[in-house]
Amino acid sequence: MLRLKGVRKVFNQGTINENIALKGLDLELATGDFVTIIGSNGAGKSTLLNSIAGSFGIDAGKIVIDELDVTGKPDYKRAGLIGRVFQDPLQGTAASMTIEENLAMAAVRGKKRGLKIGVNKERRAEFKEYLSLLGLGLEDRLTDKVGLLSGGQRQSLTLLMATIAKPKVLLLDEHTAALDPKTAEQVIQLTKKIVVKNNLTVLMVTHDLNQALNMGNRTIMMDSGEIVLDIKNPARKHMTVDDLLDKFAQKKGKELMNDRILLAQ
Ligand SMILES: Nc1ncnc2c1ncn2[C@@H]1O[C@H](COP(=O)(O)OP(=O)(O)O)[C@@H](O)[C@H]1O
Ligand SMILES: [Mg+2]
Repeated sequence: MLRLKGVRKVFNQGTINENIALKGLDLELATGDFVTIIGSNGAGKSTLLNSIAGSFGIDAGKIVIDELDVTGKPDYKRAGLIGRVFQDPLQGTAASMTIEENLAMAAVRGKKRGLKIGVNKERRAEFKEYLSLLGLGLEDRLTDKVGLLSGGQRQSLTLLMATIAKPKVLLLDEHTAALDPKTAEQVIQLTKKIVVKNNLTVLMVTHDLNQALNMGNRTIMMDSGEIVLDIKNPARKHMTVDDLLDKFAQKKGKELMNDRILLAQ
């Protein structure tokens, strides 16, 4: 479903600030794979997701989504293949638009141009059904402005919007990190539900090592622009966070000293 071969990304090439964020990365995901991504700050996790989404061009390598080589394609040309949720609940939705307008916009993402964005009776019924999945009562607030919603409600709505157009790959970049623990847990449960319902292929960045091991079927750890660990089931099933940290230490010959990763435990 997703194939990355030798993906390299250099920021500020040729300047004193040159930074090789991805060092020729290889990664293959089968349909239905749910991969959690961990790694310290600056490891290249977001750059990996941005490269897949086409937020910027890459400097070498190849990216194939569902047999389609998207390497040179701008982000809007791959929008239909990809759903994304970022850390910031404000980023995925338009505050001044209503819930149903946001959903209508999301539903035509990546589809042929000229498709009407309007909301009709049939669509409204469909949106209500989708929203009831969230269990937040938003199905009765279709014409409320999204700006009225809480962070958790907005992030749940963003998740729905990211998947409503049936993307091939769902990219989640610390999408619960800005939420309080209880709300974060609700959004995690919702994530699981939506992924199963749509049989999605997922890459999820998290700084919570327990969550990384408990969700999905595979965990990769990044460090300095490289994948240093790639752990799949069944081996992953019995792993603890300590095992994970030990493995990292063995591999890198150093302790994983990261503020956020260690604090998150
Ligand atoms: N737009 C950018 N311009 C310059 N440097 C960047 C940019 N985005 C990321 N970087 C750098 O690339 C490296 C990887 O960043 P990032 O992928 O955001 O790390 P992570 O998400 O794992 O914390 C970091 O050193 C970061 O400073
Ligand atoms: Mg990041």
